[in-house]
Amino acid sequence: MKHFLDLAHWSTSDVHALIDLALELKHQWKNGGNPPLLKGKVLGMIFQKPSLRTRVSFEVGMQHLGGHAIYLSPNEIGLGKRESIADVARVLSGYVQGIMARVFEHDHVVELAQWANVPVINGLSDDHHPCQALADVLTIREHFSRTQGLKWAYIGDGNNVAASSLIAAAHFGMHFVTATPNEFRIPTRIAESAQALLQANGATFEQVERPEDAAKDADVLYTDTWISMGQEGETAQRERIFADYQINQALLQQAKPGAIVLHCLPAHRGQEITDEVADGPQSAIFPQAENRLHAQKALLVKLMAEVV
Ligand code: CP
Ligand code: NVA
Repeated sequence: MKHFLDLAHWSTSDVHALIDLALELKHQWKNGGNPPLLKGKVLGMIFQKPSLRTRVSFEVGMQHLGGHAIYLSPNEIGLGKRESIADVARVLSGYVQGIMARVFEHDHVVELAQWANVPVINGLSDDHHPCQALADVLTIREHFSRTQGLKWAYIGDGNNVAASSLIAAAHFGMHFVTATPNEFRIPTRIAESAQALLQANGATFEQVERPEDAAKDADVLYTDTWISMGQEGETAQRERIFADYQINQALLQQAKPGAIVLHCLPAHRGQEITDEVADGPQSAIFPQAENRLHAQKALLVKLMAEVV
């Protein structure tokens, strides 16, 4: 059974094939619609955290493909509390042909996959956000018509989004640079999981502290919230620590003239990104958000088309 828990567990050729399929499905959708490749199939969606993009894009994506999605809210099934993760996985496997889960602990999505008899998709864990990274690469590929050799700079917290961006950049031959405070770097074990891919694909990874050093000559500038879901108790401290880690017009001027700005959203305007940049001519944040739909449709087809 193939799952999608983090990008490091997929081969580079499989991830490239996903993006190719996403481009094809997007083109098809914009020109009359997709064939019902998932007719009669159901995706179960477990959410332990809030969501706009992930929930709606998966639900709409299943509809585009002739299938259906069921939303299970944070209080509904009490993953690991009302019922063990192993039991939830085995019960759901009898009803649905795929499970998407947004969790706190990454191990919980791993455990779901261990027990499920259907594919499990990580819709964000504390460690990874691989669905987001697919949409990001799709957006970069559409804009530049290539990925190899581009410089992708990530400014802010070395969180789940940063981690998945690194692994995606490694698959697509990019030069990935993070600017984070030293104690908020991408965790070493995740950076290590990208090493072989970086080498195999002519990609590089560098971690610096000053945003200007990362942004210099970048093709892509990326940021995310300073305070991820579950870290609300650290808000005051994080706002202090990350105050200089903002994508604003001055930072954007360090990047290449043709650079694009990405943000996974939700944005905290005035914190990690200014209105001027988020709504400016170099912003690709709304096409990027739309691409969640197209990238995930490719993922759903790859994982669920064969499941009965
Ligand atoms: N980017 C993203 O995952 O958005 P949601 O939290 O709204 O799903
Ligand atoms: N890093 C953020 C991403 C939100 C889509 C979080 O985990 O809350």
